[in-house]
Amino acid sequence: MFEYKLIAECRQTGARAGVLTTPHGTVETPVFMPVGTQATVKAMTPEELEELGAQIILCNTYHLHMRTGEDIVEEAGGAHRFMNWKHPILTDSGGFQVFSLAKLNKITDEGVEFRSHIDGGKRFMRPEDSMEIQQKLGGDIAMAFDECVSLPTTPEYSRAAMERTIAWGKRCRDHHSRKDQALFGIVQGALYESQRIECVERLEEIGFPGYGIGGLSVGESHAEMYGVLDALCPKMPKEKPRYLMGVGFPTNLIEGVARGVDMFDCVLPTRNGRNGQLFTRFGKMNIKNLSYARDFTPPDPSCGCYVCRNFTRAYLRHLYTAGEILAARLCSWHNLYFLVNLLRDARSAIVEGRFPAFRRDFMENFMEGAY
Ligand code: GUN
Ligand code: ZN
Repeated sequence: MFEYKLIAECRQTGARAGVLTTPHGTVETPVFMPVGTQATVKAMTPEELEELGAQIILCNTYHLHMRTGEDIVEEAGGAHRFMNWKHPILTDSGGFQVFSLAKLNKITDEGVEFRSHIDGGKRFMRPEDSMEIQQKLGGDIAMAFDECVSLPTTPEYSRAAMERTIAWGKRCRDHHSRKDQALFGIVQGALYESQRIECVERLEEIGFPGYGIGGLSVGESHAEMYGVLDALCPKMPKEKPRYLMGVGFPTNLIEGVARGVDMFDCVLPTRNGRNGQLFTRFGKMNIKNLSYARDFTPPDPSCGCYVCRNFTRAYLRHLYTAGEILAARLCSWHNLYFLVNLLRDARSAIVEGRFPAFRRDFMENFMEGAY
C-alpha cells in the first residue's frame, strides 16, 4: 500500500525524483505539501488545490485534537472525507505544535504536559496518544511524536532531546497498527552533525518507511541548515523518502532538493499571502506597495496561475487596501501555485538531466529580485 520508487538522480548534486504510492494515490517527488492545519488549507477549496497542482496536503494532530477532536473526524470517515480531499494527507504528530503553541510545557520521558492554547487547561500527550489520534484522523502518512529543540541550544540538551525522540519513535512504532497508514520517524539533533547522523542510524534500526528532518528553520542561518543537510542526507537510506519539515522559503526548497530532500511543507505561501506578500521567480513582492496602484500587469507575468492569468497588481492592491477577503484568497492561491509548481519544475529538470542549470538560474533570478 505504501511504496517509494526512485525514478531519476542528478549526477552532479544529490537531487532525486521519485514516486510515492499511498492508499489515496501517488505523489511525484520532490513535492511541496500545502499546510491544512485545521483540515483546511486556509482560504482554498479542495477543488482549487487540485486545480493548482497540489498532490498531498498536511494536517495537524495538535489542532484537530484540541478543537473538534479526532473522534468527530473519525466519525465523518476520516480526514479525507471530513474535508473532501481525495488525495494523500500527511498528519504531523503534534510534537512540534505542543512546543511552539502550548505554554508552560513540561517534558518528561513519558510525554509532554502542556496548557491548551484554547482554554488554558492542563493536558498531557504521550507518543501513544499521538498515534491513537493520527490513526483516527486516518492520514496516509503519520509522523512520530518527537521533541523539537529550539535554538540556541547546547550539545547536552540536544542529545537529551534526540535520545527522547528515538525512545518515543520506538514507542510510536510499537503502538502504531494501521496497515493503510505509513509512519515516518523524525530526525533531531539540532545543528550537531554527529548527533543528526547517529539519530538517523538509530531510527533506521527501529525501521520506518520514511524520515522527517525536524528541528530546522527554527532560527538558524541558511548556511547552518544546508550544513546539516549536507552531513545528514548522504547517511539517510537512499530508497526511502526524506521530508524536510516546516521549510518553504523558495531558495531553501531548491537547495534542499539539491541535497536530496523529497518532501517539504510550510505555512509560508498561505500566511504571507494573507499579508499581501507574493513569491515570484524574481523574488518577493509586496502587493500593498503604492507603486502598484496603477500597475495593470499580472502579479507575475511568467506565472500560469489563475490569479496571474486574470487579475492585475493594481486590482490585488486595491482588494488588499480595501480589506476584501478576496485579496487573501488570491494571494494565497498564487503563492501555493508558485511553490507547488517550482518543485514540479525542479522534478522535470532532474528527470531531464538539467537540474544544475535549473538550480543556478532559479537562485540567480530569485536573489536578484527586481521587485
Ligand atoms: N514541523 C517543523 N519542524 C518540526 C519538527 O521538528 N517536528 C515536527 N513534528 N514537526 C515539525
Ligand atoms: Zn500566479
